[in-house]
Amino acid sequence: MMDYRRMSFYQIWVRSFMDGNGDGIGDLYGVYKKLGYIKELGVDGIWFSPLYPSPNADYGYDISDYRNIHKDFGDLDQFKKVLEKAHSLGLKVIMDLVMNHTSDEHPWFKKSCESRDNEYSDYYIWRDKPNNWYSIFEGRAWEYVPSRDQYYLHIFSKKQPDLNMDNPAVREEMKEIMRFWLDMGVDGFREDVVNFLSKRSGLPDGLPFVPAVNGMPFYKDGPHIHEYMAEFRAVCREYGCLQIGEGPMTGVGSAMKYLSGPTKSLDMMISFDHMMADCIYTEYIHRPFSLISYKSGLSKWQYALEGKAWNTLYLENHDHPRIVSRYGSEVFRSESAKMLAVSYMFLKGTPFIYQGQELGMTNIRLMNILLYKDISSINNFYTYHKDDPPEERLKRIHISSRDSSRTPVQWDATENAGFCPPGIKPWFFVNPNYRKVNVKVEEKDPGSVLNFYKKCLKLRRSSKTLILGKYHEYFHLSSHVYMYDRVYKNISYLIICSFSRIPVMVNLPGSYRKREGILVLSNYEKTKPDRMIFRPYEARVYRFRDEE
Ligand code: NOJ
Repeated sequence: MMDYRRMSFYQIWVRSFMDGNGDGIGDLYGVYKKLGYIKELGVDGIWFSPLYPSPNADYGYDISDYRNIHKDFGDLDQFKKVLEKAHSLGLKVIMDLVMNHTSDEHPWFKKSCESRDNEYSDYYIWRDKPNNWYSIFEGRAWEYVPSRDQYYLHIFSKKQPDLNMDNPAVREEMKEIMRFWLDMGVDGFREDVVNFLSKRSGLPDGLPFVPAVNGMPFYKDGPHIHEYMAEFRAVCREYGCLQIGEGPMTGVGSAMKYLSGPTKSLDMMISFDHMMADCIYTEYIHRPFSLISYKSGLSKWQYALEGKAWNTLYLENHDHPRIVSRYGSEVFRSESAKMLAVSYMFLKGTPFIYQGQELGMTNIRLMNILLYKDISSINNFYTYHKDDPPEERLKRIHISSRDSSRTPVQWDATENAGFCPPGIKPWFFVNPNYRKVNVKVEEKDPGSVLNFYKKCLKLRRSSKTLILGKYHEYFHLSSHVYMYDRVYKNISYLIICSFSRIPVMVNLPGSYRKREGILVLSNYEKTKPDRMIFRPYEARVYRFRDEE
């Protein structure tokens, strides 16, 4: 079994990572070339967002063939080459697995549409009359199909019909798919919206006035979820592979059932509480960033899981805008990117870094909604706050769009940021700040965000305390400073992060005031350890040793 507690992962959303064959689309040839870069960063594994064939209604999260690679990204042979090279570098490879829905272009769905009495008729959720649920991505959650004279359920887009997990044949299919990839040598799965797999029988109506998620009480953590998860766990146990579940809107109480005790079916869960410090469910309702809410989201999971389960740690992925633009400051880009890294990487759990996060990439702001690609952002623009003027609505998209994390990775200062060859149009806009923010520049600069991420990963890896130590938060009510410690045997680390753009005075907790700590990491040069005035977005990590 993998000791994932010591590990850290890098997430690749391949379409925007690196174009290796010169067609303007990121692919596995590009990944192959850049595996050395990922290794150098100091992580232990890669999570690939879906690589499978897909019509791209939701950029890969609508799968039309679970046993192949999207032609834009290469083929199975190229995947095997990447896998082999990753393994030879000591990197584990985790595949995304979408079990809640397929693409409407998957052959199972096409068959299912044909009639009510074929082998695939019951693979999806069909009803004569729809209930009142909304879908998360577009309008009502039901779509009519004349050939069956019935409606199918789609919690996400119309092109993502929900599978009927109550059908044992569907679960068998999923287990076979898992085996297919595990036999090839992959090391585990990141399981998409795993808490949505079991729906309440009868599919009762939800509250009529709650948009997008009114059915959620009836499909989240549903009645048979732990039975189904146990079946998938059994397969993974045979291979000793890692299972990370995405749990949208799952509270820590429900999460514990997946993560511990007799129903344990996941090694870790991707939680969302700390990602809602400036919004409610990212896209829909915005509010000014609240440090207290960020701290509450993190501490809640840190305390609840202590000694019982294991956390995932992340600030970015393909579903969230760039963290510097959200919780940090584009004015203090470098300082705040580093401070944010400190704020989460030394918590207890396994850190994930999303492509470009290690460079301090920021949000993109396109001038027209027609330039956006993400279905969820487009739906958001046209569906919510309809009475607001278009500029206001566009501003909301600038703040919240998932497309901000999907711009090409900035490799150097040449045309197209080195993502694809000059003269070729990249599939999506490159962030105009690429001349300043890119791998080549940052590799050379010892004070760059990239080199700071490397330091953080190295420090974490070097310390049992930072991996296993107990977490405690201090001064929770401070709206400027996030302070916590990690304690293991006679070693403690005190982590202090200022979220303020003006200098702030920081007090130490009583238990640390008289102790001599060594400053082991800081995002400012020449920090005098005795000066407790923190500069904008300053972060410090102190190490303390008790006499035994
Ligand atoms: C969660 C994925 O991370 C997101 O990108 C996707 O749109 C939804 N699940 C639906 O698959």
